[in-house]
Amino acid sequence: MNNQNMFNPLLPLTSEQINYLEKLENTCSNIQSAWLSGYFWKSANQLSAPSSLNINQSESNNSLITIISASQTGNAKLLSERLHEYFNKNNKSSCLINAIDYKFKKIQNEKILILIISTQGEGEPPEEALSLYKFIMSKKAPNLNNLYYSIFGLGDKSYNLFCQAGKDFDKRFKELGGNILIDRYDADIEYEDNYIQWSKQLLEAINNKYPNSVSLSKSLQTNNQYKNFKTEFSKNNPATAIVSVNQKITGRYSSKDVHHIEIDIKNLNINYTPGDALGVWYQNDTNLVKKIIELLSMHKLNKVQVKKNIMTIFDALQNHFELTNNTKDIVKKYAYVTNNKILKNIVSNELHLQDYVIKTPLIKMINDYPKKISSEEFISILRPLKPRLYSISSSQAETPDEIHITVGVVKKLISGAVHLGGASGYLSQTLKSDDLIKIYIETNNNFRLPHNPNIPIIMISSGTGIAPFRAFMQQRDNDSAKGKNWIFFGNPNFTEDFLYQIEWQQYIKKGLITNMNVAWSRDQEYKLYVQDKMKEYGEEIWCWIQEGAVIYVCGNASNMAKDVENTLLNIISKYGNMNLEKSDEFLNNLRLNERYKRDVY
Ligand SMILES: Cc1cc2nc3c(=O)[nH]c(=O)nc-3n(C[C@H](O)[C@H](O)[C@H](O)COP(=O)(O)O)c2cc1C
Repeated sequence: MNNQNMFNPLLPLTSEQINYLEKLENTCSNIQSAWLSGYFWKSANQLSAPSSLNINQSESNNSLITIISASQTGNAKLLSERLHEYFNKNNKSSCLINAIDYKFKKIQNEKILILIISTQGEGEPPEEALSLYKFIMSKKAPNLNNLYYSIFGLGDKSYNLFCQAGKDFDKRFKELGGNILIDRYDADIEYEDNYIQWSKQLLEAINNKYPNSVSLSKSLQTNNQYKNFKTEFSKNNPATAIVSVNQKITGRYSSKDVHHIEIDIKNLNINYTPGDALGVWYQNDTNLVKKIIELLSMHKLNKVQVKKNIMTIFDALQNHFELTNNTKDIVKKYAYVTNNKILKNIVSNELHLQDYVIKTPLIKMINDYPKKISSEEFISILRPLKPRLYSISSSQAETPDEIHITVGVVKKLISGAVHLGGASGYLSQTLKSDDLIKIYIETNNNFRLPHNPNIPIIMISSGTGIAPFRAFMQQRDNDSAKGKNWIFFGNPNFTEDFLYQIEWQQYIKKGLITNMNVAWSRDQEYKLYVQDKMKEYGEEIWCWIQEGAVIYVCGNASNMAKDVENTLLNIISKYGNMNLEKSDEFLNNLRLNERYKRDVY
């Protein structure tokens, strides 16, 4: 029989194939059926889409050194690339791989393993390293007696669990018998000098251990996928674009202030993909800078040196240092330079200090305890300004010359005064149409639409977590993708907080969005969240999972994403007839098969 004659677009199988499938299905338990759906999904998706950033692991086995990059906002990724190039230049073959692509069961065959890893959430590994982390921490982790390793941890000292992910891996590698090549380095946000020193030491240690090892083959060393996402503009070389729209999209009575911002990128030759984030270099508020200069009796034209550049203190404070985050370190240094007794007393007690930092923005501390200090002294206690990342809420298929972002304004009321977040305050209050903005694209290959347009997707979000899903829907609309789309969205009130309501309604009317469930937490006496809506539709979610759906979660990491994950586990357990341990394994398999993706912060 000619297969093509049998082809039916709704059921693209021959009767022979259907017979095989039915026979197989009759022999399968629920778990086996679910596993098979994932198996087929993965093979279908891989044909059209080799895993981004992945490099052939068999090649990696030829390399003496494997570098695993585990990053969320790009810093560890950049350092991993630099290390890979540094090894190449020094004639050492190395294989660079993303944690998500690493076939971790082969870890016991590695000779030298370098892990460059940031810490996210509250002391957790970045999303792309979660499966590796679970495996290494599990009973299944192999003996690592033959492994030499080194870890470069990236973190931020203002967090309690500083560089915890790197520390956890280090401890576990040791327990498993791994040998330290050089000691782990825990780097704070200014890591450049530490990285250079660590990489030099590392190379020296490798040269001592393997003096005769040279590059095996030049062609094995370059991961082309990594090269692909290098564009003209980057974090350290941002593009200057123009703001075209800045509009508040929450209602007048909303408890939230959310802005939709459109940025004109015409002629800048910037390309991005739905799922990517926009890096924004922001400026501190002019009034805040003036106030600090006044309280510390400095003159705005005083000259200071920042890295190698000489500039006025005004410019330095507006563009080069964080002024909206206070840290324990800053309080300690300020207490010391001002010689203030009250502050010295606070910093002498760790618990008081912790509490003080949470409740006292930098400007309040300076306002409460002003003192004449030199401009140089003041900037020496500050932390360098970091760009902020926002999920892009548009697709270039829809708006080729624009980037849209959805900004939730961080607002804190402390002692009667409103304190705005540095970047969200700048984006929402300072920037007007036609103003210039410094931006770059931060690629996020872990949060992508499936390449196969027929695959159903479930998108779960709260608040501004909806942003990448707007980009996804624009893309699927332009691609005329046939896959079903289901959105779960939560926010406080229907009338005030239904972000992009009209667009969703149009997509529903068109048939692009097949299911949409909203949870308004404060529209009734009891609280209602997205996870409650998921519970209500648990059986249908399970059906979609069996059909091969990809599940995306975007938004708040500490509350929403955790509750959503627990709900998913319960749904899998209930409708897949599994205990919670098996359901955890099942969800982890979905993660490994790129069917459970999170962008949470
Ligand atoms: C939402 C969020 C949570 C973070 N949590 C921690 C933490 O618990 N401990 C820590 O040391 N650093 C923490 N950091 C700081 C990052 O580890 C640091 O910025 C690092 O340079 C990021 O590297 P990456 O870009 O490779 O992800 C956090 C950063 C963000 C954005």
